[in-house]
Amino acid sequence: MSRIDRYLQSQAERFEEELCQLLRIPSVSADPEHRDDIRRAADWVADQFRGLGFSTEVIRTSGHPLVCAESPPVADAPTVLVYGHYDVQPPDPLDQWISPPFEPSRREGNLYARGATDDKGQMLTHVKSAEAWIETEGRLPLNLKFVVEGEEEVGSDGLEQFIAENARRLACDCVVISDGAQFGPGQPAITYGLRGIACYELRLTGPNRDLHSGSFGGTVTNPANALAGMLAGLVDDQGKVRIPGFYDDVLPLSDREREELASLDFDEQEYLEQIGVEAATGEAGYTILERRWTRPTFDLNGLGGGYQGQGAKTIIPATAGAKLSFRLVPDQDPQKITAGLRKRLAELCPPGIRWELSGLHGSPGVLIPLDSPYVEAAARAIEHAFGRRPVFTREGGSIPIVGTFHEVLKVDTLLLGWGHDDDNAHSPNEKFALADFHRGIKASARLWEELSKISD
Ligand code: BES
Ligand code: MN
Ligand code: MN
Repeated sequence: MSRIDRYLQSQAERFEEELCQLLRIPSVSADPEHRDDIRRAADWVADQFRGLGFSTEVIRTSGHPLVCAESPPVADAPTVLVYGHYDVQPPDPLDQWISPPFEPSRREGNLYARGATDDKGQMLTHVKSAEAWIETEGRLPLNLKFVVEGEEEVGSDGLEQFIAENARRLACDCVVISDGAQFGPGQPAITYGLRGIACYELRLTGPNRDLHSGSFGGTVTNPANALAGMLAGLVDDQGKVRIPGFYDDVLPLSDREREELASLDFDEQEYLEQIGVEAATGEAGYTILERRWTRPTFDLNGLGGGYQGQGAKTIIPATAGAKLSFRLVPDQDPQKITAGLRKRLAELCPPGIRWELSGLHGSPGVLIPLDSPYVEAAARAIEHAFGRRPVFTREGGSIPIVGTFHEVLKVDTLLLGWGHDDDNAHSPNEKFALADFHRGIKASARLWEELSKISD
């Protein structure tokens, strides 16, 4: 066993304890009530880097602070930019958590807490691997730059701006991100594609107040009825999105990629059982993996209007609204999607209703070339830690900043997810397997060595 791997073994318990410290900070980026917690989480992350002797800065942005750190320079070695996020999704519905979301709890080899897998646990693997190098070898074999943001779950506005203004400071040979999943139990993966996203809020307004639905019903448009109809008009019964131009730029799947995806060991029944659903649906003509990873979608994320309390209340509500999002794939452009959506909503809106659409955020999908020495280095590092060669996957989720790294810094990203699809990211009872936490650290430590051997 190498010195580094021995060090990792000897420090395993402390690493878990430190992860628990970070998980106890409720850094919910969407909720203004948690501003102080966000700041505390940023400071906690910054202190980690200071402890390693990295030059470290907590940078204020238009939104939540950004933590930037750099390892002491190593001449004639590549530079890797590690990205992660310390913010988390809101924990609700709270009553569905077996243990409280911000009191980390170990059960059956898993650590349960909001942010365990997304992304505090995964992000920390790269910090601890750097620590192992510094503590055993006195230095890293390459140059590491870290950018850990607090706004990933709300669109990364501050980071977008920071990258645009600091391209030189962030210059690197490749980016490394662990903020996703392995392909399955015992099957690690390198991810070469992410979907993009376009998120909106739609508000409909009808009468100037809630009305008695007996006195007025049947004479004016009910905003909640209108909302249901308009939303239903955005997708057909074959799972196709009905927005003008929506599919114009969708990169079709090649036969080769279809074959590769089909050759992955995927059990549809298991997939459905795990989420408690009886039948798969979706866009006609595509397999489940193709639908999840390579095809665009429309989803309602929240829906409201009228009376939501106990019992019945017979009203025509004055307003109704929805939060909606589209997952996008290369080469769809979020701005074009917005224009198409507005056109379609105008067509669908019935008389007597005013509608207002606000764009929350958007980012395009990404595809990353697999024929690079970086990918091969990552495959070797993963094999060292997980005992198995990774398979190549795409993912259905979005990490908006990956596209920006490519556009502005002109570099590709290694997406090395240490989590699992059933980690309950964004759901109650989020977890991260402790074995994956430690394998992630081990893979990361080996990755620095493998990447250091690549010369350009
Ligand atoms: N870590 C996820 C992205 C992800 C999910 C990658 C699943 C791979 C597999 C990230 O934290 C996330 O949730 N992103 C949001 C982006 C949005 C809020 C702009 C998403 O995908 O909904
Ligand atoms: Mn994440
Ligand atoms: Mn997330």
